[in-house]
Order: sequence, then C-alpha cells, then structure tokens
Amino acid sequence: MKISCIGLTKTCFLLCVSGCVVFFLLLPWIKHGFLKAHPLLPCNLTCHSRYLQPPLEFVRSSPHSHNGVFQGGKKPSAQGQDTAYLQEPLHLKDLFLAVKTTKKYHKRRLDLLLQTWISQAQDQTFIFTDWEDQELRQKTGKQMVNTNCSAVHTRQALCCKMAVEYDKFVLSSKKWFCHLDDDNYLNLRALMNLLSAFPHNTDVYVGRPSLDHPVETLDTVKGDGSTSLKFWFATGGAGFCISRGLALKMSPWASMGNFISTAEKVRLPDDCTIGYIIEGMLEVKMQHSNLFHSHLENLHSLPQSSLLQQVTLSYGGPDKRKNVVHVAGSFSLEQDPTRFKSVHCMLYPDTSWCPN
Ligand SMILES: *[C@@H]1O[C@H](CO)[C@@H](O)[C@H](O)[C@H]1NC(C)=O
Ligand SMILES: *[C@@H]1O[C@H](CO)[C@@H](O)[C@H](O)[C@H]1NC(C)=O
Repeated sequence: MKISCIGLTKTCFLLCVSGCVVFFLLLPWIKHGFLKAHPLLPCNLTCHSRYLQPPLEFVRSSPHSHNGVFQGGKKPSAQGQDTAYLQEPLHLKDLFLAVKTTKKYHKRRLDLLLQTWISQAQDQTFIFTDWEDQELRQKTGKQMVNTNCSAVHTRQALCCKMAVEYDKFVLSSKKWFCHLDDDNYLNLRALMNLLSAFPHNTDVYVGRPSLDHPVETLDTVKGDGSTSLKFWFATGGAGFCISRGLALKMSPWASMGNFISTAEKVRLPDDCTIGYIIEGMLEVKMQHSNLFHSHLENLHSLPQSSLLQQVTLSYGGPDKRKNVVHVAGSFSLEQDPTRFKSVHCMLYPDTSWCPN
C-alpha cells in the first residue's frame, strides 16, 4: 500500500518534470507564434531591418507566413526556403500619390511641388483640385483631376475631394494610397523605405497622429449613437498612407460617394473620417509615425541631421512664414522661403537648377 503510494508520487513528479521540459522546449515557438499574431510594431525605420531579416525559424514555424511573404497565388521562388522571407521589392510605380489642392494655390503652392518632388514621380502623382485650370492641365495632363468639388474650405468640400481621391485609387491597380497636401514636400526615398518595411498584404494605415490622445465620438454609423467610439487618426496635413487591401475593406464606408455620407453622419473632417472608418469600423490599428510633418508643428525644431530621413515636410502659412525647416542649403531664405528647394537639392544634387 505504502510502496504503491510512493510509486504514484514518483510518477507524478516525473510527469511534472517532463511537462516542464516540454514547455520550455516549446517556449521559442510560442514566442514566435505570438509575434506573428501581432505584427504591429512601432512604425518607423527601425522596423525595416526587422522585417527584412527575421530569423528563419520565425518564418518556417508559422503556417500563415506565406500570406505575408508571397503575393497571391505565387509559388515560392526556386531559390528555396532561405529567401522565403524576402518580400517583393516595392517600386515607385506601386504608389498612388494624391495631392489635394485648390484653385488659388495652383501657382503659389503647386508650382513649387511640380518643380521639386513631383518631378521625380510624375506618373504616380495625381493632383486633385476644384477648377479646370488650362495652364495646369497643360503642365500635368491627365495627372490633374478636376474633382468638381466646391472650392470653399469646408468639411463637405474637403470630404468631397477625399472621396474622389479614394475612388480614383481603387480604380488604379497601385499597392499604396498616399494622401498629401499642397504644402507638403514628399521625400520619395524615405517613403519607400517606410512602406517597404511593412509585410506585403497586411492592413496598413500609417501617418502622424493628429492629437496626443484618441478621438472619442458617438457611434452613429454602426450603432445607434448611444455608445462611443475611441480612435486615432492621421493628420491629413502631414500626409498618410493606406495599403491597398485595407483601402478595399473601407469600401462600404468610402466608395462611390459613401465617404461623404459617412463623414456627414459622424460630422467629422476628411482625415478624421478616414481614422473613424479604419480604427472604428474595421478595427485596424493606425501605425503612428513621427516621420510625417504638417505646418502645425514647430518645423524649425526638426534636427538637421535627420531632415533627409523624414517622409514629409511642410512650411508655415502666410501668418507663420518663419516656421520652416532649418536647412543649411545653398539657397537663401529669400530665394527659397519654404526651404523645399534646398531640401530637394540635397536629395537630388543632379537637378539642373540646383547650384553645384
Ligand atoms: C522608432 O520608434 C521607437 C519606439 O517608438 C523609438 O524609440 C525610435 O526612436 C523610433 N525611431 C525613429 C527612427 O523614428
Ligand atoms: C467633373 O466634370 C467633368 C465635366 O462634366 C467630367 O468630365 C469629369 O469626369 C468630372 N470629374 C469627376 C471626378 O467626376
């Protein structure tokens, strides 16, 4: 009786020990599985290397990793499993860059953009405006889109333009939608670095949070308006990007005029409505990035050493002319009040009008 009891305790002990050993052996697998399920890393350049060179077992241990690595239906490359984690490289032609402008800024703001960054991505950039400007049409051809929206700076007019941008992107076959304002300098290389760090086919909404806390609003779209929704949104003035897959999921609230009615229901501005649809309706988290900048920030406090790594820059309006990035370029403040030419010449020194 006694002996069999001791025997039982021993068995229990052995079982317990072997259980623990098995658990510790499985620990790395559990960890990797966990990481795979939460791919929302802080979104900036630091995640770039992380996504390009994950440990091999990280890829192999996850049965779903192929969705993140290979484009739909494509077979793994003949080079074998070791290159399985490499994504298809992102090309400039994969981008759809929407610049929102209005009649009165065609000359004052847009000419500078056409001369600088847009010249490096002419075929990818679409200019969404509210007036059939023959001069702009001659310069940009079919890249200019007359939205037929009102030229007034109201919520409705801005939402109208965003709706046209969205529909035009959906009709294109591009992988990324990026929205910009006509006072943004877009650093294409920095943008490509940022976007290529995201695993292919994941839902991405990346930009600069407009506030330091999420917005709270009553849920009048999905619910009956008695419950509230908290969500982050990317400030439109700094520019933001959305992956194609996510953009397509937004369709019930955004396509064919639905964007305007969604914005009307929640009474929110255009950029805020985007956040509402993505975080509130689709429950996809926005990726916060500090590489996007709007004119609302203190632009001169941006360190010069990291200026060329920023995705977007901006400049202060007429009442804040001094709010520009600090860059020691070859143009004086009088020659280049927005500093965009100086930045452009640092990024593309071979440009014909850049001093050598
Ligand atoms: C990236 O994000 C991390 C965590 O939020 C932060 O510590 C780091 O400074 C950021 N890096 C860049 C290049 O912005
Ligand atoms: C704006 O109106 C013009 C002329 O009617 C039309 O050709 C064009 O397609 C319209 N633009 C949009 C975005 O609907």
